[in-house]
Amino acid sequence: MRTLPNFSLKSLNSFGFDISAEEYIAVASSDVLRQAIDYAKSKSMPWYVLGGGSNLVIHENLPGLTIHVHIMGKKLVTKTSSHALVDVGAGENWHEFVQWTLDNNLPGLENLALIPGTCGAAPIQNIGAYGSEIGQFIDSIEVLDTQQDDDELRWQTLTKADCQFKYRHSVFKDHPGRYIVTQVRLAIPLEWCPNLQYAELAKHTSNISPLLPLDIFEAVCKIRQAKLPDPKVLGNAGSFFHNPVVDESTYLSLKEKFPNLVSFPSQTVNGQAQFKLAAGWLIDQCGFKGYRQGDIGVYDKQALVLVNHGHGNGKELLQLATLIQEKIHAVYGVDLTQEPMNLPTS
Ligand code: EPU
Repeated sequence: MRTLPNFSLKSLNSFGFDISAEEYIAVASSDVLRQAIDYAKSKSMPWYVLGGGSNLVIHENLPGLTIHVHIMGKKLVTKTSSHALVDVGAGENWHEFVQWTLDNNLPGLENLALIPGTCGAAPIQNIGAYGSEIGQFIDSIEVLDTQQDDDELRWQTLTKADCQFKYRHSVFKDHPGRYIVTQVRLAIPLEWCPNLQYAELAKHTSNISPLLPLDIFEAVCKIRQAKLPDPKVLGNAGSFFHNPVVDESTYLSLKEKFPNLVSFPSQTVNGQAQFKLAAGWLIDQCGFKGYRQGDIGVYDKQALVLVNHGHGNGKELLQLATLIQEKIHAVYGVDLTQEPMNLPTS
């Protein structure tokens, strides 16, 4: 096992921030991953785990060891009477994996096409788009549990229930840094049913008959490409805030004050109706769309996306995020929660 000193992470974070790791290692197997953590522990240095770097704000050079998970491999394990069980290594690119499932006649993930990042990072924030979430398709997840009272590292298999998936949330977010995902097992229903609950996707595919999974995949790619910036061209981490979920009375008073408020019914909690507000709309209405402070700004086609026009840094980005949060709180009384994780954790 060999680490590299002073390693640039510019191409390993989707904002493209010019930041470096004190020591860096790419790990291609569970064994080397374990050695890397043992090494960091033996030197009492902090460690950070990177997947695709597409849901992170790295705002300072990272001290200690940065571990880039490159554990690869994808295979159909078996088919039960109802599902195909598929294993994928944490380092595989998510979008290429979605393509592979379609190529292998295992449709179901097409609504999640073109989401940046790796398969290992996907369950952490329960990636979701166009009416689907990865949590629906999880069978179990192999992890290295790094936080034990006796300081021992342990391999664990977390079931879907253990993962506690919710909107953009999971057990991994409750315990940042504790679990390192090495492999994901998905359970993809054998009976395919198109998911067209997102109105724009239904509109894009309404003229196609018969409608095939690949048609939905292509429509999702088109919609995303029209609305969301390609991180290779313009640094970003997708949605920067969660869509806030509010109770019915908050929703009703906001709707009265702002009749054009964009919102969707959300899951009920303890029998109480909840509403998801479109954070992009709130930010847009406050005049931030296309707003720019130096090289950091708000994307001009989707106000929920913050972008780096080239030479911005993480500190400036977090300042703009705070400005937006304060404005939204002042105008609507609603708190916006940041979606990407800050590194180092602050
Ligand atoms: N809107 C505006 N102005 C904007 C942006 C949005 O008025 O600048 C309003 C529009 O009415 C629009 C509505 O907000 O119809 C919702 O916007 P959109 O359909 O783009 O979805 P979103 O709620 O902003 C969420 C996810 C996206 C996902 C899309 C589609 C979150 C935090 N974001 O965005 O996920 O692709 O739905 O399902 O839930 C990501 O996580 O990186 C991401 C892109």
